[in-house]
Amino acid sequence: MYIECKDLLKTYRSEGTILTAVDHVDFGVERGEFVVILGHSGSGKTTLLSLIGGLTNPDGGTVCIDNIDNWQQTDGELAVMRNKRIGFIFQFASLIPTLTVLENILLPLSFTNDPQGDRQYALELLERVGLSGRQDDLPGQLSGGQQRRVAIARSFINRPAIILADEPTGDLDEVTEQEILAIFKKFNQRGVTFLVVTHNKDLALDQDKPRFFDMQNGSLRETSAL
Ligand SMILES: Nc1ncnc2c1ncn2[C@@H]1O[C@H](COP(=O)(O)OP(=O)(O)OP(=O)(O)O)[C@@H](O)[C@H]1O
Ligand SMILES: [Mg+2]
Repeated sequence: MYIECKDLLKTYRSEGTILTAVDHVDFGVERGEFVVILGHSGSGKTTLLSLIGGLTNPDGGTVCIDNIDNWQQTDGELAVMRNKRIGFIFQFASLIPTLTVLENILLPLSFTNDPQGDRQYALELLERVGLSGRQDDLPGQLSGGQQRRVAIARSFINRPAIILADEPTGDLDEVTEQEILAIFKKFNQRGVTFLVVTHNKDLALDQDKPRFFDMQNGSLRETSAL
């Protein structure tokens, strides 16, 4: 397994009660798969993605990526793994308001020996998400959907092997959504592994070999396509 969660547990404590956000989840993904995670609000989808991406510590269980246990690594190693391997598309807009569009896209590249090439690739990604010419704008000058598209471009800048996407097309119109899904398909065909949280089952219709999971009260189970 390329990504493997074993007996994964995450609880939150609030006002004396314990809430189990991710409830003993066993879950495996092969390299190059397109995985779709559905489920009601509050069922634990974002928590699961942030555990897999090493952004949140579990209360139990393990996540291994390419046979390396997230939490057997030092914080530094984990940060490098996140930075080099994973592209995150967060549920809520996450651009830095004081940086331009281009600077935001380049942000995950903390160290680079090819600034010119990186800039070129950033502009290419910007074009692919339909925002050519907007590289010098600040996020505040863009609509919500345009900001989201910048965040999508940013998630690809470090040529990640894995994309963790949390409602990536939530605030996009249908045409733009289709364009983004076509971009996902292209990267997926090149071997990038996708884990996509969505409320929209149709999102995966056009992907090559999607697998569907349903999250309910912290439990995850595989479901048939539609
Ligand atoms: N930092 C936190 N502190 C306390 N409780 C939290 C925290 N983050 C999430 N929760 C709780 O954990 C549960 C799962 O939350 P999560 O954000 O993973 O759900 P979700 O499936 O992503 O929902 P949505 O579809 O609304 O985004 C919810 O009941 C939520 O209230
Ligand atoms: Mg969520």
